[in-house]
Amino acid sequence: MYETFYGLTRTPFARNIPTAELYNSVMVEETLGRLSYAAERQLFAVVTGECGTGKTTTIRRLKDMLDPGKYMVLYLADSKLTPRHFYKGLLEQLGCESRFYRGDAKRQLHREIELMKGIHRLEPVVIVDEAHLLDREMLEEIRFLLNFKMDAQSPMALILVGQNELWERLQLQSYAAIRQRIDLQCKLQNLDRAQVGAYVSRHLSYAGAEHDIFSDSALDVVFQYSSGSARLINKLCTHCLLYGYQNGKRIIDDHIVKLVIQGELS
Ligand SMILES: Nc1ncnc2c1ncn2[C@@H]1O[C@H](COP(=O)(O)OP(=O)(O)O)[C@@H](O)[C@H]1O
Ligand SMILES: [Mg+2]
Repeated sequence: MYETFYGLTRTPFARNIPTAELYNSVMVEETLGRLSYAAERQLFAVVTGECGTGKTTTIRRLKDMLDPGKYMVLYLADSKLTPRHFYKGLLEQLGCESRFYRGDAKRQLHREIELMKGIHRLEPVVIVDEAHLLDREMLEEIRFLLNFKMDAQSPMALILVGQNELWERLQLQSYAAIRQRIDLQCKLQNLDRAQVGAYVSRHLSYAGAEHDIFSDSALDVVFQYSSGSARLINKLCTHCLLYGYQNGKRIIDDHIVKLVIQGELS
């Protein structure tokens, strides 16, 4: 649709951009560095940030970065995760059918993990996304994973990813047992104005644009509206491109962005 009008060969601001084509910021690089260290040393890390800051995208990159000959990444993102589903989900990813009872499934998981480490020489990296939605029981269960053999060595790297509330909750006295086990903490922030410009250009050049489509004043408004949230930038820019195409505007200026916000996004 609008792609041809703007001379684009791919769709910008889409969710499925290959990880090599993503916008790179110092913050994301730092987070990836810390998370690879967590994988290597089998640590417990917590990643938090507002919604739309790029947490899941960063995890996607981490997964692509980690050597599949060395690590086995198990990823769960289920807002209604119960301990049974948790074990079932992890076991399924290991190619096993989970036992029905929670206790059995848990022992089964531990056995599989030992096999994976001992025989296949793979280090497990368990990632639980949307972790701010987990209830206390589930968070406790996850904590138990870390000390199942009471030995000094951690059985896996564990990465909890969630919105800022997760971190706020972990500050509560009643979560002290979990909090004290956290080895690394990473916070993703919204993009600033300069980063919003770079982010938009990255998407457009990925899409094959040969010149700027958004004016500087348009980007100011995109920044104000989105507060630097990648998800909101994507949504707003996509709406602007559609509007521009329908109204024959090759350059999107602040006036257009404001019209789109008022007309379609407010
Ligand atoms: N570094 C990036 N480069 C390009 N697009 C990104 C980047 N970070 C996030 N996005 C895009 O922004 C949207 C929201 O990112 P997501 O990782 O789902 O956020 P979160 O998990 O923090 O809510 C996604 O569509 C994603 O493709
Ligand atoms: Mg997410």
